[in-house]
Amino acid sequence: MDFPMFHLDWLNNRFLIAVIAILHVLINHGLAVGYIPYITWMEYKGLKNSKSDEITDMKWDAFIYKKMKVAFIITTTIGAMTGVGIWFSASLVSPSSIASLIRVFFWAWFIEWFVFVTEVVLILIYFLTWKNSNKSLSAKMRHIRFGWFLAVFSWITMAIIVAILGFMMDPGNWNEHHSLLNGFSNPIYLPQLAFRTPTAMLVAGLFGMLLTVIFGKKEPELRAKGIKYAGIWILCWAPLSLIGAIIYWNVLPEAMIANMSTAVGTMQFSEYYDLLKIIIIVAISLVLVLATFAFLKPSRVKIWMVIIPCFCAFGFLGVFERVREFIRKPYVIGGYMYSNLLREEDYPLYKKEGILKFATYASTSEINESNKIQAGRDVFMLTCSRCHTTKGVNSITYVFERMYGFGKPLDVASVAGYIPNMHMGRTYMPPFPGNDKELDALAHFIKSLQTSGESLEGVQSKGVQVNPINSVETFKK
Ligand code: HEC
Repeated sequence: MDFPMFHLDWLNNRFLIAVIAILHVLINHGLAVGYIPYITWMEYKGLKNSKSDEITDMKWDAFIYKKMKVAFIITTTIGAMTGVGIWFSASLVSPSSIASLIRVFFWAWFIEWFVFVTEVVLILIYFLTWKNSNKSLSAKMRHIRFGWFLAVFSWITMAIIVAILGFMMDPGNWNEHHSLLNGFSNPIYLPQLAFRTPTAMLVAGLFGMLLTVIFGKKEPELRAKGIKYAGIWILCWAPLSLIGAIIYWNVLPEAMIANMSTAVGTMQFSEYYDLLKIIIIVAISLVLVLATFAFLKPSRVKIWMVIIPCFCAFGFLGVFERVREFIRKPYVIGGYMYSNLLREEDYPLYKKEGILKFATYASTSEINESNKIQAGRDVFMLTCSRCHTTKGVNSITYVFERMYGFGKPLDVASVAGYIPNMHMGRTYMPPFPGNDKELDALAHFIKSLQTSGESLEGVQSKGVQVNPINSVETFKK
């Protein structure tokens, strides 16, 4: 309401955030939070297994260095950029929610920023000093200690962000007392952290094993040793990840579990939901079988054996993120702000007086016969556009036609009859906030889309229009 509405009609706004955020999580968890301790442990193994007259096992050390190089390049480029990208995309699509979160977590984000910058600097130091540290035993030991230190730092950045993610799902008693401490002590925080920590380790182990297989082609001895260690690493973390998943699942409120089947895919997909459970069990078993085999018979591990579980692990981490984003609906901040960026406590006012009157940016505030479609477009932008498009992904005409028949002209009365009840059957949608006139205008606009085929433009292409009741002309009168 207070911000101009950015809108991507072909891709869907949620999609933009999701793509960037998911990519970021995959890199952050798989190649930093879980990977740094894994690599440090490998580096330590080289030192421990070396002969008494050498600093470390140099061949092994060079092998591990190569594996670190891959993560170093990816985390400091795509990883760092997508991290900042989440800020850009979320503040474009969902400015009001970011504005609220900033007010709660100002100091957390302030500290997180320092921790993040420090983390990047530490990664640079860790990687760039690696070769030099091989010159003396004490330098090597310092380097390894530095690796552990970096691992803790990467974990702390995740631990801060997870507090915010948990908060958005269920702010707990923050809705009564708005304080940072209440924000941090939200009920989903620790269970989510208990799940993410070992899962990051697990995914990193699989990625590490994949690189070992690829880089070890000409070095069968190093390859076998690396695969064996990765197997041990995975076997250690997998049970913890499973326990974490169960703890996390058990704290999810029932309303979120109810959203789960649509969250995983789309509504059509919800029928295959049970199938998905089977796929998860198969994938977990696959990872465990691979890890056990890698531990017992490392030299017989083939690349395809690693690629499939690795793909599954990254895939599930991605699905997990999408699900987390989705199941908190209809809220963007649980019990406080709906996904359409309107605060729950403002709803009674909007229902009575209409939302257009309070929108800072709208083309009209008074609805009459001649501007109905135009007003309906504004109402759509304010109440549906964070999740629906007019022509692209999850298009509004498509979802209505799916209910009332494809190719048939929509009936304005049926559309207007459905909208005030939409949140009851489909609990992931917020209730419609506007008054009767706005409902009627919205229904007319949706129907008009069937013939106009209009693609809704966001402010980024259409420009900003201040609500006429707030314009300079009105104030001058
Ligand atoms: C928080 C996001 C969100 C908002 C806001 C939202 N919707 Fe939806 N809506 C969805 C999702 C997700 C679906 C399911 C799409 C699918 O999986 O096929 C859906 C489905 C629908 C359906 C089809 C329901 C069915 O039973 O088949 C209709 C109709 C609909 N939305 C209308 C609206 C209208 C009108 C608005 C604005 C007043 C709106 N929605 C706002 C997310 C939202």
